[in-house]
This record gives sequence, C-alpha cells and structure tokens, in this order.
Amino acid sequence: MLKLLFLCLVLTLPSIFSDKIRFDNYTLYRVFPKNENQVQLLRGLQDSDPRFDFWTEPSALVNNVDVLSSPEHKSEFESLLKAYNVEFVISNPNIQEAIDREPVKTYTRRNLRSMTWNSYYDLDGINHWIDDLAISYPSIVTIIKGGTTYEGREIKGLKISHGEGRRIIFLEGGIHSREWISPATVNFITNELLTSNDEETIAAARDFDWYIFPVTNPDGYIWTHTVNRMWRKNRRPVGNHVGIDLNRNWNNNWLVVGASSNPALDTYAGLGPFSEPETRSLSTFIESIGDKIDMYLSFHSYSQLLMLPFGNTTEPLANYEDAMKIGRRAMGALSVRYGTRYETGNIAEAIYQASGGSVDWVKERLKVPLVYCYELRDNGTHGFILPEDQILPNNLEVMDSILELILQARRFGYMSSGNIVNSSVVLIFMALLAKLLQD
Ligand SMILES: *[C@@H]1O[C@H](CO)[C@@H](O)[C@H](O)[C@H]1NC(C)=O
Ligand SMILES: *[C@@H]1O[C@H](CO)[C@@H](O)[C@H](O)[C@H]1NC(C)=O
Ligand SMILES: *[C@@H]1O[C@H](CO)[C@@H](O)[C@H](O)[C@H]1NC(C)=O
Ligand SMILES: [Zn+2]
Repeated sequence: MLKLLFLCLVLTLPSIFSDKIRFDNYTLYRVFPKNENQVQLLRGLQDSDPRFDFWTEPSALVNNVDVLSSPEHKSEFESLLKAYNVEFVISNPNIQEAIDREPVKTYTRRNLRSMTWNSYYDLDGINHWIDDLAISYPSIVTIIKGGTTYEGREIKGLKISHGEGRRIIFLEGGIHSREWISPATVNFITNELLTSNDEETIAAARDFDWYIFPVTNPDGYIWTHTVNRMWRKNRRPVGNHVGIDLNRNWNNNWLVVGASSNPALDTYAGLGPFSEPETRSLSTFIESIGDKIDMYLSFHSYSQLLMLPFGNTTEPLANYEDAMKIGRRAMGALSVRYGTRYETGNIAEAIYQASGGSVDWVKERLKVPLVYCYELRDNGTHGFILPEDQILPNNLEVMDSILELILQARRFGYMSSGNIVNSSVVLIFMALLAKLLQD
C-alpha cells in the first residue's frame, strides 16, 4: 500500500510541482567547423559545458553542428565562436515558437480510427492505442512487456504474429525521449502492418513475427510532454543531476568512446553497463528471443542517416559489406517518393565514434544478421521539433525503405523468402540434394 502511494506520488509529482520549462528566446545555431581545431573546440564544449545543448555531434565527418543556447549564454557562445573564427548562422532565434506550434494529442480508449499522422501522441495515447489494437485484432496482436522503468512504468509493446514459427523483426523506438518522430514512425509501421492493402506490406506482416516497442524510454517521454521538451535521458537521479543516456548504457564497449562519465551531460553513460532498469530489463527481454531475430531496427532523429554497427571503430566488422549494400538500396527506395536523401554508413563513419548503444550490443551479443539505426528527418532545419506536416511523408518513405530492406535481405540470403512452408520445403530439398551429392 505504501509502495503504491509512493508510486502515485512520484507519478503525479511533475504535474503538481513542476511547470513546463519554457524556451523563450533560446536560439538554435548552425555551426560550420572547418578544421580539426574547430571540431576540437566544439567537442570540448560539448564534453564539459551542460549549458549548451548539442543537437548533433561535432566531428570531422559532418559539415555542420546544431547547438541550442539559452538567451543568457548566447553572447558567450558567439564570442567563443568568433574568437576561433568558426562560422555560424542562427537557424531559429526562438525555439519556443516552434514548440508552441507542435500539436500533441492523447487518445481515448475504443476509438481506433482516431490515431492520425498529423500530430504527436503522448504516452497514454500510444499505450491506449496498443490496448485497442489487441482488442481489434485478437488473433494477431499480443501486448508484450519489454521491461520496467526507473519510475515503475511498463515498457509496453506489441507483437504482430500470423502464426507460430516465424523469424522476428524487432522495432525499437523512443529510447531518446525528445526524438518524437521516432515513436510516430514506429506506430505508423505498426498501423501499416495491420491495415494496409498493399501486397508487399501484407506479405511482410505475414512472413515475420514483429516485436514492436514504440517508446523504450517512457519516463523520459512523459517528461518531454509535461516538463522539458528537450529531455533525452531517463529520469533516474544521480547526485544532484538526473538522467542516464539509455543509448550509452548497453553492455558493449561501455564508456569506451563518445559517452560521458559526467551525470550533468546528455551523453552520461550511467554507473556501469546496464545500470539502468530500462536497458537491463529490455535487453533481458530481447535476449530471450535473440536467436530468432533476423533484423533489428532502432529509430532516432535527426540527420537522415541509416547507420550500422559498430560505433567504436570505422573498421568494417561482421557482415559490413552486405549490410551496407542492403542499407544503401533501402535508402534508394526511401528517396523515391519525395527525394529525401539518407546517407548509409557504420555509426563511427556516419557521425562519430560512440559506444554503449543498443544496436552494437544486439549485433555483438546476439549475432543478429541485420541491425540498423535510423536517424530520421530532418537534416537540421527543424531538428527535434519536426513540423507535423512532415510526420506522414517521413513515415511513408521510411515504410518504403523497410519493405526494401526485407526484399534486399532476402536477395542477399539473410531471410527466408515467401512463406515458411515453402522455404522449409526448399531447405529439406537442399539438404537431400547435399546428401545425395555427398554419397
Ligand atoms: C525575447 O526577446 C525579445 C526581443 O529581444 C524580447 O522583447 C522579449 O521580451 C524576450 N522574451 C523573453 C520571455 O525573455
Ligand atoms: C569494436 O567493438 C567490437 C564489438 O564489440 C569489437 O569486436 C572490436 O574489437 C572493437 N574494435 C576496436 C578497435 O576497439
Ligand atoms: C535537407 O533536405 C532537404 C530535403 O531532402 C534538401 O532539399 C536540402 O538540400 C537538404 N539540406 C542539406 C544541407 O543537406
Ligand atoms: Zn537518438
């Protein structure tokens, strides 16, 4: 009872005691480092000064870096850039205006048709929608629990399955809470798999078991809706600070590179590998089905990239060559609809070295054949505050790319083609043939 009371208190605290943080006159800068010195300057700032919010990573590989500054620190930031001759422009002089325009919806039970693709949904909205899907498609949709958060919430997901014995495609969304387009994309894919009339989509839904978690950082996601739109981490307090970057906390090359041991920072990796309830419980869940997963997709924003493991090195490890070819073709398919361009590369060669992320752990520990991380729209014009009129186009083009990923994966022999019965007949036939040839 006490525990329940405590939980209720914790869950209602934000609405009682904290007001929504406003970002009036917070300015988004686009900075253009031209040489290694200028990159180092920005890296140093990112690694030491929580006053500046780096929306993208400074690295020699990128042309520009997006940084958000409060009005109080703008002049200091600009002076520093000028002192080092770093070019910059202001992409948005007042980020609060963009936040004010951002539509957020909730979702009431038993109202299946009301999930739309011109708003972002809060956590209750998404969870209620999942409940409704399980009721509407009782023989296909099962609710699954990927784990538990620091604040005691469930990491809720769903499984789409048209029968026993299928291989798995796993979708992980919302591990960084401010990247709202990520859950929106994952929800759209879910909806397509259940309602589309397109033959290829129907086949994709039928040929695999889909394990889908739109919001893997629920505490953080709620925080972005109730208090701080720019929140990235989970909500566990560490000393005077709050939050661990859940995508730096996985047990692969933990804290080796591109992560911080300073709890004040956004890339704080935590007290140890899997120190966080979210990563610990979710990884346990993933591991329980690990040998059946053919493809694992993690969704982030923004930068328009498709990245593959690993983040600790640019070395082409595992099946890098195949994974690159498959990924590039999928990004070709993505660009057809609206001309949106995505780059493909391993994490370290696409952005910068960073370790402790989910995809590296899934690849290394579970040997999943195809593992990708999307950085969704846009390429920096709006960043995390992606306008609502881009939600649907983003979702449609990503869905195109996922069907192409499956198609190419089959061409490269990573996934069985057609339905399970056919492929097992082929397998038996080939085994017989091999035996005959041996004899
Ligand atoms: C934002 O800046 C404008 C122009 O300098 C100023 O008039 C306004 O008071 C500022 N708003 C806040 C909330 O500080
Ligand atoms: C990078 O990480 C992978 C996977 O854990 C490991 O096999 C590889 O040796 C690491 N490479 C370097 C250069 O640290
Ligand atoms: C950003 O993307 C848009 C649309 O895909 C494109 O028109 C624009 O040139 C891109 N800008 C940069 C800097 O890549
Ligand atoms: Zn992210």
